[in-house]
Amino acid sequence: MTQPTAAPTPPDSRAPRPPRPWWRRPWIVPLALFGLVFAAYALPPYTSLDPEQARLPVRDDLAWHYPVLVTHIFAGALLTLIVPLQVWPWLRRRHPSVHRWSGRVYVLLGVPLVGVPGLLLGPLSSVGPDARISNVLWALLWLACTVLGYLAARRRDFARHRAWMLRSFVLLYGVALNRIVLVLLALLMLPWLDSGFGGDVEAMILSVAVSSSYLSWVLPLLAVEWWLGRRAPGRLRTTAR
Ligand code: HEM
Repeated sequence: MTQPTAAPTPPDSRAPRPPRPWWRRPWIVPLALFGLVFAAYALPPYTSLDPEQARLPVRDDLAWHYPVLVTHIFAGALLTLIVPLQVWPWLRRRHPSVHRWSGRVYVLLGVPLVGVPGLLLGPLSSVGPDARISNVLWALLWLACTVLGYLAARRRDFARHRAWMLRSFVLLYGVALNRIVLVLLALLMLPWLDSGFGGDVEAMILSVAVSSSYLSWVLPLLAVEWWLGRRAPGRLRTTAR
């Protein structure tokens, strides 16, 4: 008598998917290059530790202003370079301890050396009150997302960890994006230089700097919320990767 053949097993939807090759993740290399280019642009005026070289006016009446600004900038550059490592799936999978250590550096250096200084520098902005409000909101949001992301990882709630850290990363990269948005808005406003600003280029730049400041964190945040929302809650990973 012939034995009944077993029905073919359906593929296990919970089985880990094979890793995608690096060329199917074309954003990691451009992200790393973008961070490097921004660091190369941001750092040079501050390497001499001469307040005269700063790109923004340094307050003589506040002894802490320049040291806090320089600390913020160098630590900020380091964080910008860490982000591509954190979002690189291959590194997370193959070297989870590197992901954990660079993640600790991101949070434990970033909060006191980038976020808190950002909060202190925000109200001093020479661009004016609107930009000061934007700066303070930006710093508070970055601090909140980063701390919530860290706490979620400590609870081993990796779905929420991932979502909060992605918000933290886009807010951080918004600082670099700000320079691009500022140039684009200034170019867009050029036809109104005479009629709107009496030919005063500086007044035009100051005016668009406020819009640029808001757009640079609001737009990336909206984009990441849309991206996170596209993934049904059930599809968010709940295990460490
Ligand atoms: C989300 C995190 C960050 C916040 C909230 C933040 C906030 C600020 C604030 C409020 C200022 C003073 C602006 C003014 O006076 O008008 C500032 C200056 C500056 N920040 Fe950040 N920042 C962040 C991340 C970074 C990162 C990652 C870098 C990378 C190097 C960076 C580089 C700079 C530089 C270079 C300046 C001085 C302005 C200049 O030289 O162009 N910041 N930041």
